[in-house]
Amino acid sequence: MILPQEIIRLKRDGRELTASEIGAFIAGLTSGDVTEGQAAAFAMAVFFRGMTLAERVALTEAMTLSGTTIDWGPLDLAGPLLDKHSTGGVGDNVSLMLAPMLAALGAFVPMISGRGLGHTGGTLDKLDSIPGYDTKPDLLRFRQVVRDVGCAIIGQTETLAPADRRLYAIRDVTATVESVALITASILSKKLAAGLEGLVMDVKTGSGAFMPTLEASRELAESIATVATGAGLPTVSLITDMNEPLASAAGNAVEVQNAIDFLTGKHQDARLLKVTLALGGELLRLAGLAGTAPEGEMLLRGTIESGAAAERFERMVAALGGPTDIIARASALLPRAGLVVEAWPEQGGIVTSVDVRAVGLAVVELGGGRARASDAIDPSVGLTKLAALGDELGAERPLALVHARDLTSAEAATQRLRAAYRLGDETPRRRDPVVERILPAQ
Ligand code: URA
Repeated sequence: MILPQEIIRLKRDGRELTASEIGAFIAGLTSGDVTEGQAAAFAMAVFFRGMTLAERVALTEAMTLSGTTIDWGPLDLAGPLLDKHSTGGVGDNVSLMLAPMLAALGAFVPMISGRGLGHTGGTLDKLDSIPGYDTKPDLLRFRQVVRDVGCAIIGQTETLAPADRRLYAIRDVTATVESVALITASILSKKLAAGLEGLVMDVKTGSGAFMPTLEASRELAESIATVATGAGLPTVSLITDMNEPLASAAGNAVEVQNAIDFLTGKHQDARLLKVTLALGGELLRLAGLAGTAPEGEMLLRGTIESGAAAERFERMVAALGGPTDIIARASALLPRAGLVVEAWPEQGGIVTSVDVRAVGLAVVELGGGRARASDAIDPSVGLTKLAALGDELGAERPLALVHARDLTSAEAATQRLRAAYRLGDETPRRRDPVVERILPAQ
């Protein structure tokens, strides 16, 4: 047996670890034989020394095998198991629409999502705003809903990739989250344990992104596509823009309402539609359900026009304990804030830049996100009709509508929005929300 401290020493000194050394360390992490201090030292050594592709694949595979892996074989599903994952942003409710859209085209989407982190929103917190929706069903029910409806969006389970849960908690408090090797293994171990057959990764770039530069986003996008494909899960990454909120809504219930309006065709934010179709198109091509990504995008549009995607969403909500009529009665069923006020800029002008992180923090401050993991959130608060880059604001057009518990928090959010939005005289150049497409490295 090789001692954990010897494995840490090798990595500290810049050596390439073998798959069996990595496997031994992760086994110790799972059993508890590796101490918290050792796990932190390992993470810091990886942070500074990095990992080769072979090491990343070995780490991902070891973390995948640290718990249960879902075997879908016995269910004899008639289509591919697909998923989309995002590094997180503000007003990014793509999962809520894309999962039912894919299901309507014959794919099966077992989507395991996270809660909000820092300034970014979390799909689970959004779904928790639907009365009765169970984000923590047991594995049996999860499988049944995926089989019967074609999609189920739920939270992390205790049994999938437990090594990641332990390591992530330690990284979170030891300044070792921002390691491309560790992020890659963390995300992919959960995806591989879920038994997927195709994945599209949405790596954000811009003022609301978790990766600080386009180069860093590229590095992560390529690492994930390459390691996933190397581990047997065909994956493509898209780098998408987070220099303005993706949807015109940011919060929890307000983003569910925005998603329902999207699925019914009542209101579709243009950039959100573009990103949703681009991610879905890639996935359909990857899985062979479309010949090309543009053809996939056309099929996805059809699921909205026919009402099939909205119907899948409603069935998923009902199958997971929510109401049976969320599409028709969303505005009556979703929680509503006590106060809705307009947030006005100090002076009129054209929106030239947005500090998206600050917009996300305005939602957190309203009570729609968490400062600490144990905090409760208020599902009703948030922002709607958020101004976009190039919008002209003034006497007619505010920065946003603020949905708040009281006037004090509404005013605090307004101040944050005023600081987040820069207004000027010239219309800024708006770039395509899909910035780059990254394939696995050869
Ligand atoms: N999300 C994860 O699941 N893991 C990371 O390491 C970072 C983001």
